[in-house]
Amino acid sequence: MFFFNKILTTSYLGVDIGTTSIKMVEVGLSANKFRLKNYGLLESYGHLERLNDAIQTSSLKLFERETTELLKILLKKVNPYSNKVTASVPAFSSFVTLLDLPAMSNSETDKAMPYQARQFVPIPISEVAVDWIKVGETINESGEKSQQVLLIAVPQDYIRKFQSIFKAAGLDLKFLEIEGLALVRVLIAGDQTPTLILDIGSRSTNILIADKGNLKMTAQTDFAGGTLTQAISSSLNIDVRRAEELKKQKGLLGAGGEKELSTLMLPYLDAIIKEAGRIMTRYEGSCGIKIERVILSGGTALLPGLQEYVSSELGLTTIRANPFSKVEYPENLGFIINELGPMLSVALGLGVRGLL
Ligand SMILES: Nc1ncnc2c1ncn2[C@@H]1O[C@H](COP(=O)(O)OP(=O)(O)OP(=O)(O)O)[C@@H](O)[C@H]1O
Ligand SMILES: [Mg+2]
Repeated sequence: MFFFNKILTTSYLGVDIGTTSIKMVEVGLSANKFRLKNYGLLESYGHLERLNDAIQTSSLKLFERETTELLKILLKKVNPYSNKVTASVPAFSSFVTLLDLPAMSNSETDKAMPYQARQFVPIPISEVAVDWIKVGETINESGEKSQQVLLIAVPQDYIRKFQSIFKAAGLDLKFLEIEGLALVRVLIAGDQTPTLILDIGSRSTNILIADKGNLKMTAQTDFAGGTLTQAISSSLNIDVRRAEELKKQKGLLGAGGEKELSTLMLPYLDAIIKEAGRIMTRYEGSCGIKIERVILSGGTALLPGLQEYVSSELGLTTIRANPFSKVEYPENLGFIINELGPMLSVALGLGVRGLL
């Protein structure tokens, strides 16, 4: 009985500190399946009005204090069983490079990494934590094996900041990982199809390539949901909140006089799509594989008409992220999971990470 209870209560928190909101999920294991136990999402509208001062970008001290306070509020709402956390590092705070190296043991790869990092990371190596994961293996015609390794470097400063924030909120930060890995865990879930993931948040868009079940490339652009809101707000001369409402309500689908709304947003969406196209071409050129589909994630994935637009621009099947395909959830949440899924993808992937 005790043993049974213990298994049931094994759970982990995934915390995604985004620019305009913090998402927290608690994921448990029951009968060997991942299950969402609790979730919470705290949008901070104050930040919308001063986008340049949003959570991630405000000064260090303010960022730490505000984030700790927001986490405490969220903890009260979510009231989780666990205090163990996996959190994420946004793309704009990390360096990720795909390397082709000769096949070698893990310890040899470990030793090779600082040397590799020095070549690819633009800040002194003493100021970053370096990690790597193997994401592929190939054998050429002469039988020589090589390995594909994703090199990840995160500023130490960032890690210290996060440790102190979570500690102050009474949480135990166990892992920090890049958003791309969390996304691939739940959105790809082992699927072998070469896929482009566009995670369009508020401040930034993650452009990811996953292939053979693994993350292969990451890139980032600052055009994202916030840019769309700003464009509407300044062009129509309305306040940011109203612009935000209009954007969510009409998206790209306005008719008649509302057509103007999509006209205002399209240049920025085109910039995102163009950058994604460039990354796809780079990946396809490097390994002769064609990307076959697009997954839209992040809050902006909910923009009415976006799915169809991306699909026609890139000429690829485009679907909205469903991070819950391999994670069970309480039945009464069914009706909002579809809406929340794209926004909770990162947090859910982080929560699952803790249970592996
Ligand atoms: N229904 C909707 N239609 C259009 N846009 C939406 C909708 N719901 C949310 N958004 C947009 O999604 C964005 C927030 O998404 P998300 O929560 O993924 O961002 P974030 O994680 O806070 O930001 P970032 O990842 O850039 O730091 C906002 O720009 C918001 O306007
Ligand atoms: Mg985000």
